[in-house]
Amino acid sequence: MFVTHLECSKCRLTYESERIMHLCTCGAPLLVCYDLDQVKNAVSKEVLGTREPTLWRYREWLPIRQDENIVSLGEPMTPVIPLRKLGPELGMPHLFMKDEGMLPTGTFKARGAAVGVSRARELGVQVLALPTNGNAGAAWAAYCQAAEVRAVVVMPADSPAINQKECTITGASLYLVNGGIGDAGKIVTRAVEEFGWYNASTLREPYRIEGKKTMGLELLEQFSWQPPDVIIYPTGGGVGIIGIYKALEELRSMEWIGEKLPRLVAVQSTGCAPIVKAWREQQKESQFWENAQTIAFGLTVPHALGDFLVLEAIHKTNGCAVAVSDQEILEAQRLLAQREGPFICPEGAATLSAAMRLAEEGWITSRERVLLLNTGAGLKYPETVQADPPVLEPDDRLPDE
Ligand SMILES: Cc1ncc(COP(=O)(O)O)c(C=O)c1O
Ligand SMILES: [Zn+2]
Repeated sequence: MFVTHLECSKCRLTYESERIMHLCTCGAPLLVCYDLDQVKNAVSKEVLGTREPTLWRYREWLPIRQDENIVSLGEPMTPVIPLRKLGPELGMPHLFMKDEGMLPTGTFKARGAAVGVSRARELGVQVLALPTNGNAGAAWAAYCQAAEVRAVVVMPADSPAINQKECTITGASLYLVNGGIGDAGKIVTRAVEEFGWYNASTLREPYRIEGKKTMGLELLEQFSWQPPDVIIYPTGGGVGIIGIYKALEELRSMEWIGEKLPRLVAVQSTGCAPIVKAWREQQKESQFWENAQTIAFGLTVPHALGDFLVLEAIHKTNGCAVAVSDQEILEAQRLLAQREGPFICPEGAATLSAAMRLAEEGWITSRERVLLLNTGAGLKYPETVQADPPVLEPDDRLPDE
């Protein structure tokens, strides 16, 4: 393992990495630092290419000391699919979608859970707690079960039923709160202080982001280390986009990729767009978004702890932030399924709406390679589609199509 220390993302204070750590004394998230020269000596692009196609192929960039602490449910490399029909129709002939719906529990949250739970177990954690909008809770519940770590999950009462069921079947302790993810977070914080549990909330422990970082490492490898021009990401707490940016920075400092990075685009819903608002107002941090509500449940984060890191990632890569409405999201979800096949989640569909908008405005040009991140399977959101097919009697005949 090539971790050297933890570093505050704001004041740059450093901490040692072999004991349990949460936030810096200044209140900002801690990031994991590596000896990247040693990583460079330990692995080459050729060797990497021969490894098993799971996220653990990037183990030199991950914070697990002993292989026996790895908890895996078989995290495959997820496909990058060219959108061969839709792309040219929308003026983006080089449009791709990375489909994270193929991961265990159906979303990219499995990456953060695989690495976060493995590292928690390695540090001797027996009970952990987290607030969630749903998908992260389902993923962490599954990995905790595999790791024999007790999981306590708190989610909004109106979070998708499937996530509640996933937590229940694994035997996690699930609580619903009459409120939003911020309220769930407050309940978790109180319990963690009272009972000494490990707080696995977004960015309050440093390792979930390392799992999400593999999305960036993986997509770069899939693009043969030639970064696409634009990466569009649905942003809630921001861990995914911060993780992708961290991957890009690490690969750049190892000289595995050149100086030019993809422009990172953070997409939110108009029903909860604190980061887009801050971006438009050229602020470095966001403000709490009142009455947050969107069909893209994972994007309902009214105030993200890592907002300044998302804004920095967008700024440093010449990217931007875009808000799309729930109606646009549902239209994009249908359009993608009808033109290309996959049934994607509303958060993923938001990236397609944003791409359409940015191509129309000329911010994306037809020569550019554009990558959408579909963060989860549409199967986890059956209520986003109404099916009303005709019902036949056994002797009826089908009409000619
Ligand atoms: C499907 C899906 N996409 C995107 C997000 C936003 O994730 P992030 O915290 O990385 O911004 C979530 C978070 O719950 C999610 O469930
Ligand atoms: Zn600090």
